[in-house]
Amino acid sequence: MAEQKLSTAEILAKLRASKPSTSADATAAPVAESASAPVAEAIAVSAVEAPAPKASPAAKPGSPADVLAAIRAQAAAKGGSAPAAKPATPKPGATSDILAAIRAGKGGAAASEVNASAPKATPAKSVAAASSGAPKPSVEEMLKAVRGGAASVAPMGESAKPVLPPLPVKPVAAKDKKVAIERRSFVAICFSPLVIAFGSMAATSLLWVLDLARFMFPNVLVEPPTKFKIGSLSDYPLGTVSTKWLAARGIWIVHTDQYKGKNLIYALASVCTHLGCTPNWLEGEQKYKCPCHGSGFYVTGINFEGPAPRPLERVGIRVAPDGMLEVDKSVKFQEEMGQWQDPNSFVDATLA
Ligand code: FES
Repeated sequence: MAEQKLSTAEILAKLRASKPSTSADATAAPVAESASAPVAEAIAVSAVEAPAPKASPAAKPGSPADVLAAIRAQAAAKGGSAPAAKPATPKPGATSDILAAIRAGKGGAAASEVNASAPKATPAKSVAAASSGAPKPSVEEMLKAVRGGAASVAPMGESAKPVLPPLPVKPVAAKDKKVAIERRSFVAICFSPLVIAFGSMAATSLLWVLDLARFMFPNVLVEPPTKFKIGSLSDYPLGTVSTKWLAARGIWIVHTDQYKGKNLIYALASVCTHLGCTPNWLEGEQKYKCPCHGSGFYVTGINFEGPAPRPLERVGIRVAPDGMLEVDKSVKFQEEMGQWQDPNSFVDATLA
């Protein structure tokens, strides 16, 4: 709720109405009423003419204490006895003090009349002129000033808001700024041309060292051993061509008696003597047939059709000490060169 701004005369009227009238007040009331107009005028004039309350640090410009001081000063100047000097006065600014000042103002009514010779102004105008310099206090502020003394009242026109101390400057801001500067410097150093050049040179040198180390360890071709065991003689009955080792070792195991009437077991390399293709064993036709150019070979390995110029080759075979057949692919035997007569090129099944 907005505060109601009142003039000084209205405040005095409120004080008279709010405080129960004493016997002295009752006797003084008519006097005060009769003298209300000139006193109000005197109050207005004194409010304008009164000097700043230098003597009393508690008095504020335009406060009731100022008004009372001005009234007492006028009364003392005109020879009137100032009842304000009474030792029984409880405290400045009390209602009784104001009434005493009003009575004194009546005694010095002549002074008020003398003051009236000065350029007169209506009370309302005087009050307005007195209060034109500063905003009017509220009723509550005036009551506080009258009852509790001017020392406890805030200066007129000033708000009662407490003045807060200034907030301290955050030290984090300076720290963040320093960190940001350091980060920018680090990035600038990392992407400088000198650093980039040295980094590229170091990377190139590292690659050279790695390639040299790789050169010191050449590739190793892992091949199956050339000698391996293929089982016992009984695993290869007479009149059969076994393809068991064709895919893994590239050989056929042949048990036949068609080569010069001998019962032999030997190993034929599955390489066509034309251009090196791998022929297929055709069980129904009892021949090896090359799919590349159509060369054909008998079960003994002798070529009989197609472009193949010579028979298939045998590899070494023998009976190992443990009774197992052992093949050695590192040794080759060619029929056209008479090498099939070598005992290492076959196993005589009749002797085994
Ligand atoms: Fe076998 Fe040509 S490679 S017939």
